[in-house]
Amino acid sequence: MKKNIAVIRGDGIGPEIVNEALKVLDAVAEKYGHEFIYTDVDMGGCAIDKWGEPLPKEMLDKCLASDSVLLGAVGGPKWDGVPGDKRPEKGLLSLRGGMKLYSNNRPAKLWKQLADASPLKPSIVDNGIDFIVVRELIGGVYFGSHTTEEKNGEAVATDIMEYSEHEIERIGRIGFETAMKRRKKLTSIDKANVLDTSRLWRKVMHRLSEEYPEVEYSDMLVDNAAMQIVKDPSQFDVIVTENLFGDILSDEASMITGSIGMIPSSSLGETSCGLYEPIHGSAPDIAGQNLANPIGTILSAAMMLRYSFDMAKEADDIEAAVTKALDAGLRTGDIMQDGCTKVGCKEMGDAVVGYIG
Ligand code: IPM
Ligand code: MG
Repeated sequence: MKKNIAVIRGDGIGPEIVNEALKVLDAVAEKYGHEFIYTDVDMGGCAIDKWGEPLPKEMLDKCLASDSVLLGAVGGPKWDGVPGDKRPEKGLLSLRGGMKLYSNNRPAKLWKQLADASPLKPSIVDNGIDFIVVRELIGGVYFGSHTTEEKNGEAVATDIMEYSEHEIERIGRIGFETAMKRRKKLTSIDKANVLDTSRLWRKVMHRLSEEYPEVEYSDMLVDNAAMQIVKDPSQFDVIVTENLFGDILSDEASMITGSIGMIPSSSLGETSCGLYEPIHGSAPDIAGQNLANPIGTILSAAMMLRYSFDMAKEADDIEAAVTKALDAGLRTGDIMQDGCTKVGCKEMGDAVVGYIG
C-alpha cells in the first residue's frame, strides 16, 4: 500500500524522536512491501522562525492532503515571549481544529518491564494499569474566546468554556464505542457540581448510556478522578472527558505508568486522516543530545498504521519490537533501572528496527 504521511518534526527533541519513528516505519515498509511517502511540514516554533507564524495555511493544507500526520513535539522557552495567538502551541491547536480532530485517545498502560519505574507502590501497580483516556480535543476552554482587558485600573483575563450537545455526543459515542471493544467499562469525568458545561455533559452521557446497555457506565467528578487514578488505577477501563480535564488527567495517567516518554496518542475526526503524536512535550533541556526516549513516537507511528491505514499486523510488529527492546534491558535515561543498559535515542530506535526483522 502507498501512503502519504505529513511529518512535523517540530521543536526541541521533536526532530530526533521523529527520525527514529521514520526509521521504524521504513523497516515496516520494506518488510511488508508498502510505500510511505513523507512530506515535511513546518509547525510550532520552527515555523514561527521561518514563516512568522506557527502554522501557515500551506502547512495545514499539506496535512489535510495527507493520509495522516506524524508529529514530534512543539514549543520551547525561545518562544515564551511570543503573544498567545502566535505561540508554537497555537500551531498545534490550529492543526487539531483545522483537521477537525475531536477525539484524542491516550492509552495508559503499564509495561511489566517498567513496573519499577512507576511512582506507585507495588501493591497498587500489581493490580494492573490498563486504561485509555478519550479526550475531547477541539472544544471547551481551549477553543473559547480568550481576552485580557483593562477594567477598573487592573488587567482582567477571561477564557470561555463552551460545549454544545452535538460536541458532547460525538465524543461520548467514541467513549462508549471504545469501551465496547475493551472491558466494557466507561467512566465519564466532569465537574457537574460546579459547571454548566459539565451538567450538560452528564445529561448527554446519560442519554447515550441507554444506547449501550452492555457498558457499565459511571460519572466521576474530576477532583475525585485525580485521586482515584493514583489510589486505584485498576478500576478504570475507558475514561471520557472534556478537553482541559483530559489534558491534565492524561499527564497524571502517563506518570503512573512509569514515564511520559512511553505514551503515544491518536487524534481522529470523521475521516481516517489522523494526527499521531507522543503526549510528552519538546523537552528543550535535553534536545539534540541523543537522550530522548523515542518510544512514545514509535508507538504513535504504530497507532497510525492500526487506526488510519488498517495495518494491524504491521502495528503489532512495531509493538512487539518495542517489547523486545525493553525485554533486552535497553533503557533511555527516563526509564533507566538497575541492571539495564542505558542507551540513547538513536540506539533505542536502531534496536526497535532490528527487532522488526
Ligand atoms: C497536550 C499538550 C498540549 C495541550 C499543549 C502543547 C497545547 O499539553 O497535547 O497534552 O494542552 O493539548
Ligand atoms: Mg498536555
